[in-house]
Parts: sequence; structure tokens; C-alpha cells
Amino acid sequence: MKFFIDTANLQEIQEAHDLGVLDGVTTNPSLMAKEGIFGHDNVMAHYKQICEIVDGDISAEVIATDFDGMVREGEILADLHPNIVVKVPMIRDGVKAIRYFSEKGIKTNCTLVFSAGQALLAAKAGATYVSPFVGRLDDVSTDGLQLIEQIVQIYGNYGYQTQVLAASVRHVMHLVQCAEIGADVVTCPLNVITSLLNHPLTDIGLQKFLADHAKGNK
Ligand code: E4P
Repeated sequence: MKFFIDTANLQEIQEAHDLGVLDGVTTNPSLMAKEGIFGHDNVMAHYKQICEIVDGDISAEVIATDFDGMVREGEILADLHPNIVVKVPMIRDGVKAIRYFSEKGIKTNCTLVFSAGQALLAAKAGATYVSPFVGRLDDVSTDGLQLIEQIVQIYGNYGYQTQVLAASVRHVMHLVQCAEIGADVVTCPLNVITSLLNHPLTDIGLQKFLADHAKGNK
């Protein structure tokens, strides 16, 4: 399973990269705004900086919601760096844009997916990734992980090549259950990745090993 980090924060991206387990990055307009990145030139420069840190797929989202606008923005984004994946919302023109990009060999990430039917459409349009939002479904009392299961099963039934990118992953159990289900990728904040390190028995065990080793060296 690939690990993507869901942030536009360069320090966090660098930290996840330095851990040696990072396969890519997802961003969205809210995450860019959180870092204070506004304006075309600043946004483009920021994506370039991310691409310099991580050698893996970097999702950059279009802002336009009409076909022509999405194509225009997506082509500019894709020209920035070979690792850029154009992130397109699951709307009518978005599906058409994904088909267009797919035929031009431009990678896409279909975002804001909340149902199996939407995921099926994304795959049929030729999306490289589909992003079902686990946490946001949980937020409205709907089982987000069940959607990941459904999509993995449907894609498996027909051999769709679209990769299931579990998004809005909020905690370690989300991540581990996505791995059990067989999601291709998870994207989550840095703290979810680093929380995977934690186990009290590891800490207790290490303390004991070091204490015992110290006895022999007195
Ligand atoms: C996915 O690509 C989105 O950027 C993200 O995972 C949404 O997560 P959130 O629901 O925690 O904002």
C-alpha cells in the first residue's frame, strides 16, 4: 500500500519524506489556503517545491468547474512536472475532463467521491486514482470504510486499473483497516503516519533492553 501525505505544508512533507516511507502527496484548495498559498504564480511555485522534495505522484487540484476551464488548468499543472496528477472533482464536466486527460496520458485523481456509483464512473472515465473520503462519510454517520470495501470489490470484479486512494483518513485504525481491505493508497496527515510508530510495549521493551545492556557495561 502506498502512503501519501495529505498536506501542502513543506516541513511536514519533508519530515514524512525523511522517514523514508512516503510515496506521494495530495493537496486541495483548503490545504493550500491553510499554508497561505494564494495566486497563480505562488501556487505553481509551491507545487514545484513539493515535487522537488518527493519523487512520487503529487495531486494538484483544478479550481475551474467547467470542462474547458478544467482542461486549461489541468494542462498547465501537468506541464509543471511529470509527477503532477491533476485532481478533478466528481462532477459531470469533471468526468468528461478525466476522460480527456486519460486519452492525453495525463494522470488524474478523481476527488470528492462519496459513493460506489461515483467511483465506477471515475474508473470508466479512466482516472488514475479515485479518492473516496472516509472521514467525511464517518462525520455524517455513514461507514466510510464500507465504501472502500465496495470500491475495491467492484474494481476487482472488472479489473479496472484505477487505484483506490483512501482519502480523509483521520487516524491509525482507518489506515490499518484500509490496508486490510486492500486500498492501493492512503492519504493522511503526518500525525497519522507517525502514530503508526507508537506502541507502549515497544517503549517498555526498549527501556528494558537498554537497562539490561547497561548492567553488563558497569
Ligand atoms: C483528499 O485528497 C483530501 O485532500 C483530504 O483527504 C480530505 O481530508 P479531510 O476530510 O480530513 O479534510
